[in-house]
Amino acid sequence: MKMYLTILRSAMLAVLTLVTANAMAHGDVTPQAVDTSELPQLGDEWLKTNPYTGNELAIKIGDSAYNQNCARCHGLEVISGGITPDLRKLNDEFEFFSQEEADGWFMTRIRNGAVVDGRVYMPPFEGILSQEAMWAIKAYIETRGVPE
Ligand code: HEC
Repeated sequence: MKMYLTILRSAMLAVLTLVTANAMAHGDVTPQAVDTSELPQLGDEWLKTNPYTGNELAIKIGDSAYNQNCARCHGLEVISGGITPDLRKLNDEFEFFSQEEADGWFMTRIRNGAVVDGRVYMPPFEGILSQEAMWAIKAYIETRGVPE
């Protein structure tokens, strides 16, 4: 009986380790708050295009916010390892035709995430990141060029 319990216990620990490793690999980590108080405030309406394009402070804030909230899935410095979409594609005018379309698609995804049949491929960030933080991240992504 004792032997049986010991085996059971190690089996359970092994499963727990797997579950934890899995959660970490999928970036199931508390999202980080982003201080955007020094940027021009945007109010309650959702804007259609990025008000911070080229704004140095926004790019700096966006760099850090991207690293804390997005890099674990979309790659360091916005270079995807291939499993998730490479967000530099948003900078490719041939891919998205206009800045407005790229901005619209970016906002749709970051606000709603990607949830299919209850499976969270990407968590929604609405209510977690402010609109200011979202556009700051986009301003940073815009400085990263397009993939080859
Ligand atoms: C847990 C992993 C994960 C995290 C964290 C994550 N994403 Fe995603 N994201 C994905 C996956 C997976 C997809 C592809 C979903 C699909 O194709 O349906 C995606 C898709 C996107 C898209 C659409 C890209 C395209 O080419 O269609 C955008 C934009 C995006 N993510 C932005 C972000 C931003 C910005 C952050 C950080 C605030 C973020 N994501 C955090 C996993 C993640």
